[in-house]
Amino acid sequence: MENLAKITIALDGPAGAGKSTVARLVAQKLKLVYINTGSMYRAVAWLILKNNLDLNLQKKEILELVEKAEILLTQDDVFINGQQITEQIREPEISRFVSPVSAMSEIRTQLVKLQQALGKNGGVILDGRDIGTTVFPEADLKVFLVASSKERALRRQKQQMAGGIEQSLEEVQAEIEKRDYLDCNREISPLRQAPDAILVDTDNLSIKQVVDKIIDLAQKSLN
Ligand code: CDP
Repeated sequence: MENLAKITIALDGPAGAGKSTVARLVAQKLKLVYINTGSMYRAVAWLILKNNLDLNLQKKEILELVEKAEILLTQDDVFINGQQITEQIREPEISRFVSPVSAMSEIRTQLVKLQQALGKNGGVILDGRDIGTTVFPEADLKVFLVASSKERALRRQKQQMAGGIEQSLEEVQAEIEKRDYLDCNREISPLRQAPDAILVDTDNLSIKQVVDKIIDLAQKSLN
């Protein structure tokens, strides 16, 4: 497993496909650093909302604020400007707001740079929407994780319930589908499967099966 220590794994896919759960477990097993890029976009969305800035009318103020922001990810927590916001960024309010924020080109440029700096030495698994296409197009292994929107909504609802957030299944599914639409149709780095990414449909797979599959693919990618 020694040569796996420097691997770069890109894990992309739509909302609620299980990327973060799987990435965290793969990272633990292979002793990699896990970088959840979605939480960076969520942190920025949280900062903009907290400062009551209007996405359409106050772009200049937003970019100044984001440029100065210090984002820190540990393996369990997310901080912005020193404040721990791990739970806050999972609120449905942020989920609804994050796609328009992540469509802003200047914000993407800044966060992609940060992600590339964090992953430059390898030994990382990053999950997101554009890792295999934009952030690390030369990644050793690219996986595109999908599941039906019904299954993804069920998983997300369960995850939210564990965190004390209640929303009907219909509402969760509608919000996921709306976010997918926005993420797939934005101008810059839309959600896309990279041509050389391996598609993994997780509808009928357990978390363990997906984790084992990615570890197997990681080993094969280095041979
Ligand atoms: O966990 P979930 O699938 O709900 O989403 P996430 O990974 O936390 O990402 C939240 C949002 O950030 C996405 O819906 C995208 O709008 C944006 N995002 C992005 O544009 N590029 C990334 N590399 C990661 C997330």
